[in-house]
Amino acid sequence: MVRILKIDDEGRWLNAAVADLAAGKPVAMPTETVYGLAADATDGRAVAGIFALKGRPSFNPLICHVDGMAMAENLGTFDATARKLATAFWPGPLTLVVPRTRDCPVHDLATAGLDTIGIRMPAGKAAALIAAFGKPLAAPSANPSGRISPTAARHVAEDFADTDLLVLDGGPATIGVESTIVKCVRGDVILLRPGGIDAEEIRRATGIAPRPPASSGRIESPGMLESHYAPRAALHLKTLVSPAEARLLAFGPAVHRDRSRASHVLNLSPTGDLQEAAANLYGYLKALDAQGAATIHVEPVPETGIGVAINDRLRRAAAPRAKG
Ligand code: TXA
Ligand code: MG
Repeated sequence: MVRILKIDDEGRWLNAAVADLAAGKPVAMPTETVYGLAADATDGRAVAGIFALKGRPSFNPLICHVDGMAMAENLGTFDATARKLATAFWPGPLTLVVPRTRDCPVHDLATAGLDTIGIRMPAGKAAALIAAFGKPLAAPSANPSGRISPTAARHVAEDFADTDLLVLDGGPATIGVESTIVKCVRGDVILLRPGGIDAEEIRRATGIAPRPPASSGRIESPGMLESHYAPRAALHLKTLVSPAEARLLAFGPAVHRDRSRASHVLNLSPTGDLQEAAANLYGYLKALDAQGAATIHVEPVPETGIGVAINDRLRRAAAPRAKG
C-alpha cells in the first residue's frame, strides 16, 4: 500500500525515507518542478525497480539528483559553461547533461549505458533528503511512463495506489513543469527540453544562446518522445471558441474569449500569469481527464518564458500515442 508521510519539522519523514532508500526501495519525493520517484542511483537493483514501477523503456536514462557541487562533480565533468549554469541556477529547475566521470559511481542502468549523465540539484526538502542519504538519487517524474507528471503527493498516490511505496508530501510543486535540460558536451550548449528556465536566461548566464537538438533520427533526449504527458482524453489545442458541452482548459482573462458554451472550465491563470499557469497545468489536465470526456479543449498559451515549456508539454500530450 502507498504510505503518505507529510514533510514536517520532526524529521520522522527523513528517517523513514532514508531507511527505504537504503533498503533499495523507491521513495516518491517532492521537488520544485514535479514529484520524483527516487532510488539510490548507485544501486542497480534499486534503479531497475524504478524502471519496472514506471513501465519505462530502459533506453531512457534517469536524472541523478545531487545535494551540492561536490557530489555533482563526482558524477560528471563540468566545462566552463556547465559551471556557469550550475552557479546561476542550482538549486533549481535545471538539469545539466555532461560527460560521466571515469569513476562515476552511478549504475549504468540509470544512465542507459550513455557516456553522459543528467544531473540536477533540486531545491527544498529533496536536497535535505539527498544530503541525509549521502548518495545521488536517480529520479524520473513519479508517473507511469507516458502519462501526466504529478505535482502533488495525491497524484502519486493515485497513480501507484496498490504499490508498496512511501510518498513524501511536501505540498504542491511550485514550478509545475519538469526541469529545463541543457547538454554541455564538447563545447556545445544544446537545449534538450524547455522547462522552468528559458533560453534567454541561459544566454544571459553563459553568453551563449543554446541551440535546439539536431533533428536527425538519433534521439538526443530519449524522454522527448513525441507522445508524452498524455491524459486519457484527446487534446484539442489552440481552441479559440469553445464548442458546446466542452471540457475547456482556459488561459487568461475572460474578456478575451467566449467560454459560455463549455460545460466545464478550468482556467490555468485568470490573470494570464504564465508561472501560475505552469503550476496549475498538470493538476488541471488530470482533473478534466478524470471527468471522462473524450476531448479536452485547450486555449492558446503565449510562447514566451515558461510558456515555451507549457506548449511543449501540451503538444506532446496531444500527439498520437506511441507505445510506452
Ligand atoms: O524536473 C525534472 O527534471 C523531474 C524531477 C523529478 O527532477 N524529473 C524528470 O525526469 O522529469 P524524467 O525521467 O521524467 O525526464 C528525464 C529526461 C528524459 O527525457 C531523459 O531522456 C533525459 O532527461 N535525460 C536523462 N539523462 C540524459 C542524458 N544523459 N542525455 C540526454 N537526455 C537525458
Ligand atoms: Mg517524465
